[in-house]
Amino acid sequence: MSLQPHGGKLVQAVNLGASVTHITKEIELDNIALSDLELIAIGGYSPIEGFLNKADYESVVKNMRLSDGTVWSIPITLPVTEQVKDTLVIGDEAKLVFEGEVYGTIEISDIFKPNKEEEAVNVYRTDDQAHPGVKKMFERGDFYVAGKITLVKRAAQPFPDYYFDPKETRQTFSDLNWKTIVGFQTRNPVHRAHEYIQKTAMETVDGLLLNPLVGETKSDDIPADIRMESYEVLLKNYYPSDRVRLAVFPAAMRYAGPREAIFHALVRKNYGCTHFIVGRDHAGVGDYYGTYDAQHIFSNFTSEELGITPMFFEHSFYCNKCEAMASSKTCPHGAEDRVILSGTKVRGMLRSGEIPPSTFSRKEVIEVLIAGLKQTAVTQ
Ligand code: ADX
Repeated sequence: MSLQPHGGKLVQAVNLGASVTHITKEIELDNIALSDLELIAIGGYSPIEGFLNKADYESVVKNMRLSDGTVWSIPITLPVTEQVKDTLVIGDEAKLVFEGEVYGTIEISDIFKPNKEEEAVNVYRTDDQAHPGVKKMFERGDFYVAGKITLVKRAAQPFPDYYFDPKETRQTFSDLNWKTIVGFQTRNPVHRAHEYIQKTAMETVDGLLLNPLVGETKSDDIPADIRMESYEVLLKNYYPSDRVRLAVFPAAMRYAGPREAIFHALVRKNYGCTHFIVGRDHAGVGDYYGTYDAQHIFSNFTSEELGITPMFFEHSFYCNKCEAMASSKTCPHGAEDRVILSGTKVRGMLRSGEIPPSTFSRKEVIEVLIAGLKQTAVTQ
């Protein structure tokens, strides 16, 4: 088991307050690029030190590896429009700006026009623009700017109590003397099935990093602030506090299913995890991916080159006959005994004030979700 960051070295490219007054060029970031900038700088994306150049980008798109062979599955890019591209020259330094504030700088080493159709088909396994990740990718600029970045200002953090850089989570695990840590990615409230697979994993490792993604998600996902409250009540009531840490994962969701599962695992390795949970349709959306595609993709890599151990789980549910959480690996009963509700169905129930059964979700979690969604309806 290794707590080595991916590629061997935790990237640190933070220089808060560095002077940028000498830099005249500027690139406007969107939410995704802003979160990518920060994640690169704090080492979440180690060994990546900047937005990918053409060689690394093409290698990632085609082979799920950087050009030096290191496994990497999602292209981290800085898209700009043709108009902006025309103002930039390789060798320039540019300010990275979001809503009028400078958050970083980039030493431009490459500017190129990607083949977005190929990126869509390889990374998302579809070029259907109804796919939220594909749609977003096509909406972003048609040219990619590459180069090493430096973070000069931290983005405002909506969840400061749960925001830790990889070097901090690594320190925490070391202080707790946890040798094996399982990371859990989620963009949803934690329901009984999530709890079941987390706790099953916790039976064999020292600790759990509950690491919900709080960057950009599609508009019908449950907002991060409501989810955070749901994690707090769940942990308070049902988890041993000395065996779990809650920390936000500030990345944007790509909905790239299998490719994103690899990416999610590698990033959690950088946060100090030794294990990573991959359940049913990890990071999937609609019917674009097979239920276990995000597990099968791991067989393309050796355990040495991944450096984090995936823990795979079957589709889990509550079975009324077993009177317990189970999966098809442990339950002999039929579909009629299994409590299975889709995320879309549950969101619909919650929005109409209908209460999903406690066999699907803990009542404390449901209460938070209903109250939170009512609040958003009022303020919208
Ligand atoms: S994700 O897009 O962040 O992957 P979600 O929050 O629904 O979505 O899932 C978090 C993790 O739990 C993923 O690894 C997913 O595969 C797993 N998971 C979700 N629901 C189930 C389930 N019913 N059975 C087994 N695994 C599940």
